[in-house]
Amino acid sequence: MTIDILTLFPNMYQGIFDESIIKRAIDEKRVEINIHNFRDYTLDPHKKVDDTPYGGGAGMVLTCQPIFDCVKSLRREDSIVILMTPDGEVYKQKRAYELSKCGHLILICGHYEGFDERIRSICDMEISIGDYVLTGGELASMVLVDSIVRLMPGVIEEDSHVNDSFNNNLLDYPTYTKPRVYEGMEVPEVLLSGDHKKIEEYRREMSLQRTKERRPDLLEK
Ligand code: ADE
Repeated sequence: MTIDILTLFPNMYQGIFDESIIKRAIDEKRVEINIHNFRDYTLDPHKKVDDTPYGGGAGMVLTCQPIFDCVKSLRREDSIVILMTPDGEVYKQKRAYELSKCGHLILICGHYEGFDERIRSICDMEISIGDYVLTGGELASMVLVDSIVRLMPGVIEEDSHVNDSFNNNLLDYPTYTKPRVYEGMEVPEVLLSGDHKKIEEYRREMSLQRTKERRPDLLEK
């Protein structure tokens, strides 16, 4: 998979993909992540990428030209162009699975007060990572990349994510490791029993119970 990220703040990405699982996926050439400063694409002699809004109002608005031209130069037949915006579809694990199967993602990060509405016309999808407003789409794009790359074949063992929270609309069950007793808190007996059927039943029950308590909205789905 190739992921191209369009931003005005490429330095924000320094280090973020240089650790842990994402770094390994890059090193193993399962994914290539490129950061593009769309200011490099502006035809404005002063390198401007924004302007005042028609109709008046506060702040500056990102113009179409640099983003259109940057996307045009990157687009392939299999590209999915995604706009990071708080008014997009709220991001869920199901969408992460779908996107992990794509060949090419182009993520556009807005900034400042907003972007020219016509930029939406070149996007296949608009995604919000939650009902709050960030200063720009950069952090949201990092969240997307992390959640997608870990689901790509071979990046982590499939066993590690089939039981993730949100699969089958359930939260994950609790896990424990050594020691058996820590500060008076004991590991549930069933996990020490070696009875795999019982352990599976216990985990399923705990998943359900936890989802009921914390996220009943998931069970309604
Ligand atoms: N840009 C600003 N806020 C955002 C959000 N919540 N999700 C995605 N992009 C954003």
